[in-house]
Amino acid sequence: MLSSWSANRFTGAFSLSTPIALAPMALATGGALSAACARAGALGLVGGGYGDLDWTRREYEAAVTLLEGDDHALSRLGCGFITWKLAEDRNALDWLLDQPQKPAAVMLSFGDPGPFARDLRRQSIPLICQIQTIAQLPQALDAGAAVIVAQGTEAGGHGMNDLDGRSTFTLVPEIADALARRAPQVLLLAAGGIADGRGLAAALMLGADGALIGSRLWASTESLAAEKAKQVALLATGDDTARSGIFDILRGKNWPECFDFRAIRNGLHRQWEGRVAALRADPGRAVQDYLEGVRQEDYDRSHITVGQGIGLIHELLPAAQVIVQIDEDARALLPDRHRD
Ligand SMILES: Cc1cc2nc3c(=O)[nH]c(=O)nc-3n(C[C@H](O)[C@H](O)[C@H](O)COP(=O)(O)O)c2cc1C
Repeated sequence: MLSSWSANRFTGAFSLSTPIALAPMALATGGALSAACARAGALGLVGGGYGDLDWTRREYEAAVTLLEGDDHALSRLGCGFITWKLAEDRNALDWLLDQPQKPAAVMLSFGDPGPFARDLRRQSIPLICQIQTIAQLPQALDAGAAVIVAQGTEAGGHGMNDLDGRSTFTLVPEIADALARRAPQVLLLAAGGIADGRGLAAALMLGADGALIGSRLWASTESLAAEKAKQVALLATGDDTARSGIFDILRGKNWPECFDFRAIRNGLHRQWEGRVAALRADPGRAVQDYLEGVRQEDYDRSHITVGQGIGLIHELLPAAQVIVQIDEDARALLPDRHRD
């Protein structure tokens, strides 16, 4: 059991025992992983992703069932969605907002949170907005975000494209300064490349109130990622990932151009690097190749979604163990004013 971080605003606001939020990773952060993180004292955000109603319902309900009888852990369960997709179909969000077990927070990333913010506010559900640039901050604040997640390009999965993206190391303190001036009550989490206690301690030293962690918890026993993908990923270093739109084209995901995707830079990815326009114009054969890779679990052809932090991850562990280790290692590194 983790002792308290009484001086920390994020743990205080969400009754956490560690300043960690589990990233709502589409198709990977299911009920078991979110429940394990919530039970371990972190904020557990189910990966509502593209807003598939059946998936969201099944996994959110699974988490609630797993946490039955543990009111503290239940109060740390939330959900996240990809905002531009919700704008096309908001059924999963509407379903969630009707649940007797109200989410502790809803996280919206990649798009304008404004149209959904009023419904969250009406139910006093805190809004978490993940952003990638300083320019996106006013939109998130106007929507009433209680928490900003500053996501650097080290992150696994989607984020700002290479041209406009920022690294975590400069984005976090710049957003911390902007919040101190404009909205000091709003909390800040760092995301992108945080996979151990050093990363959490660094995030806090850079001015964040906590960290949102994806890849390190993707590589946990509870994550819904395929077992073989986890094993392959453990062999990678931080050099072995890349950002591009290639896998989105291969999967037929119609992402807005400002966003792209970090995954392991496998053979199929290398084949299309520098030829993305040609792939987009005529994806047919490459899509067949990719789908065959998915069918055969051939990860040189199908994607594995992790960030640069994968080079810091060497074993699959239960999520609670990951969280305790990160928490303890960060505490050992931090000056007293952060951890009392
Ligand atoms: C497998 C995977 C899936 C992701 N899916 C989503 C998603 O559906 N929605 C979202 O807001 N962020 C998603 N992300 C990004 C995370 O929210 C977060 O920014 C990122 O994982 C942080 O960087 P890290 O992976 O280095 O910890 C995903 C990340 C990964 C690794």
